[in-house]
Amino acid sequence: MPEFFKESSSVEAVNSRIAPDTNPRFKEVMTSLVAHLHAFVKDVHLTQQEWEVAIDFLTRTGQICSEERQEFILLSDTLGVSMLVDAINNRRPGGATENTVMGPFHVVGAPEREMGAHISFDGKGERCLFVGRVIDLHGNPVAGARLDVWSDNSEGFYDVQQPDIQPRWNNRGIFTTGEDGQYNFVGIKPVSYPIPHDGPVGKMLAALGRGPYRPAHMHFMVTAEGFQKLVTHTFVGDDAYITCDAVFGVKQTLVAPFERINGVETIWRSSFDFVLTPIDVSP
Ligand code: BEZ
Ligand code: FE
Repeated sequence: MPEFFKESSSVEAVNSRIAPDTNPRFKEVMTSLVAHLHAFVKDVHLTQQEWEVAIDFLTRTGQICSEERQEFILLSDTLGVSMLVDAINNRRPGGATENTVMGPFHVVGAPEREMGAHISFDGKGERCLFVGRVIDLHGNPVAGARLDVWSDNSEGFYDVQQPDIQPRWNNRGIFTTGEDGQYNFVGIKPVSYPIPHDGPVGKMLAALGRGPYRPAHMHFMVTAEGFQKLVTHTFVGDDAYITCDAVFGVKQTLVAPFERINGVETIWRSSFDFVLTPIDVSP
C-alpha cells in the first residue's frame, strides 16, 4: 500500500516524492524547508482563515513588486533573514570590519571622484567630512581600495527615489585610496528615514507595533584586490532609532563618531577605519 498523506507523517509524505536525480543541494534545502514549514504550521495550529490571510499577504507582496520595488526583499529584511544570510556568509576574524545589509538603493556606476570631493549637490543638510583609512588586519594601509559610498539626503530620500527633485548622483561617489590607504570626502550628516511602508510589509510592521525607520547611516562598499568585498554602513550613534532599526542592520562596531567641528562650512566630522579581511582567511 502506498503511504497516503497523514498529519503525523506529513513531512515524509512530501519529501519522499523528491526524485532521486534531483540536484543534491536543492534536495537538501527543500527537504529542510518542508520539515520546518510543517513544524511551524503544527506548532501554531494554523487555522484555515489564517492560512488564507497568509496567502493573501504573499499575493499582495508579489503584486506590489516592480522594477523599482522589491517587496519580498523588504519582507526578508524586516524578518531579519537578510541580516542572517549576510552574517553566516560573511564570518570574519576579530578586528575586521563587519558587513551589514546592502539595501535597495545602491546604484552601479556612480562617478569616480577625487579624494576630498563633495558629493552632496542639492544644497540641503549639514556638511560632514568623512575621513579614515582602509587597512588590513595588521593595520597596514591598503592602496587601490575602492570606496563606493551612498547616503540619503537631509530629507531622508535617496536620489533614485526622487529623480525629478534631486540632482543625479546626489550623495554618491567612488573614491580610490593611494599608498597611504586614506580616504576623505564631504557629504552630509545622514538622517534616519523609513523604509517603503505603504505596502503589505508596512502593514505587517504596523500590526506588530514595529516602526519602519532606519537609523541614520552612510553606506560603504569597499573592494580591493586580494580582500573580501565589504558591504557595510557607519551609523550615527545617538540616532533615535539606533536600537530599533527596521531591518536589524546595526552592529555595535559600526557605530561611528560624528563630531561637531568649527569649520566655516563643514559642521561634522566622522572618522572611521575600514579593516579588510584577506580572501583566504577563515574566521
Ligand atoms: C538601506 O539602508 O538603504 C535599506 C536597507 C534595507 C531596506 C531598505 C533600505
Ligand atoms: Fe540606507
